[in-house]
Amino acid sequence: MNYPSRVRLVDVGPRDGLQNEKQPVASGDKIALVHRLQQAGLREIEVTSYVSPKWVPQMADNHAVMSGIARGAGVRYSVLTPNLKGWEAAAQDRPDEIVVFGAASEAFSQKNINCSIAESIERFAPVVEAARAAGVAVRGAMSCTVGCPYEGEIAPARVEYLAGLMKGIGVERVDVADTIGVGTPLKVQRAIEAALRHYDIDHVSGHFHDTYGQALSNTLAALQLGVWNFQSSVAGLGGCPYARGATGNVATEDVVYLLHGMGIETGIDLDRLVDAGAFISGVLGRKPQSRVAVALLNKRAG
Ligand code: HMG
Ligand code: MG
Repeated sequence: MNYPSRVRLVDVGPRDGLQNEKQPVASGDKIALVHRLQQAGLREIEVTSYVSPKWVPQMADNHAVMSGIARGAGVRYSVLTPNLKGWEAAAQDRPDEIVVFGAASEAFSQKNINCSIAESIERFAPVVEAARAAGVAVRGAMSCTVGCPYEGEIAPARVEYLAGLMKGIGVERVDVADTIGVGTPLKVQRAIEAALRHYDIDHVSGHFHDTYGQALSNTLAALQLGVWNFQSSVAGLGGCPYARGATGNVATEDVVYLLHGMGIETGIDLDRLVDAGAFISGVLGRKPQSRVAVALLNKRAG
């Protein structure tokens, strides 16, 4: 098996992780989390979203958070922008990358962004054009690539179709997301292969929620196909407000432990990452949802 020698992780904790929290999280704590992640060696951080504050109140402080970050050299800060209104607000805060987010499932597209897949592409097209003209990178998140909370199992052909639409409007790279964490390794590989019909291996990333405890296995399955870009969330924070019951992303600590154990470089300092996870978990009043973090914290305490 030829595993990649290096993996690049986007920590989506500040965005995917915190968007679903019921209690308000202070902007200062979000900024402190971003700082701790960059100190731990993360070179890509998904910071916030420019979406309707009525739909996702937790991300209403997008401007305060983006403008409060002391940016690290060589760190790429990404933000979600579902439409031109979101892009216009985001542009003022100078993100390095924007993320348009669509779904392989029609029902999830409606619930999450209030439009069909075809309409979403029409909304994204001018956003992608404006971002690229401004020299801002563009990523496309593809939700529900293996399963949907409303439609059940999703065929790889749906993923291929969405990836083709994303490619057609100029999206530079795509995330194959298992939004509700129902995927298992072979199904995830089929979804990735579907995306690979339109994007090369350097432009496809894995985004696995861990609801059913499969995310690390799915990560390994993606690595076996040569995927070397992944998204994960420090302390396993997260979930999507429009995917009831879905829990957080795979914990960054768990992915880093897996990769380092396999001799795969990440540039991340696991101890400092555990500190970042312990910090935000303390803010939220709970233990990190990362087996590795809990094990290392117990070891330190002992
Ligand atoms: P809409 O209702 O269709 O939009 O919502 P609209 O254009 O008809 O506008 C309605 C209202 O929203 C207006 O305000 C607009 O100004 C406002 P009102 O007149 O009622 O006061 N509005 C906005 N406000 C701020 N920023 C904007 C914006 N656009 C319109 N950009 C919209 C469409 C997409 C805005 C809405 O459905 C929405 O905000 N949805 C939230 C989607 C979301 O954030 N979901 C979670 C992130 S996706 C995710 O977690 C999955 C991912 O992790 C991958 C995976 O795991 O699958 C990425
Ligand atoms: Mg997600």
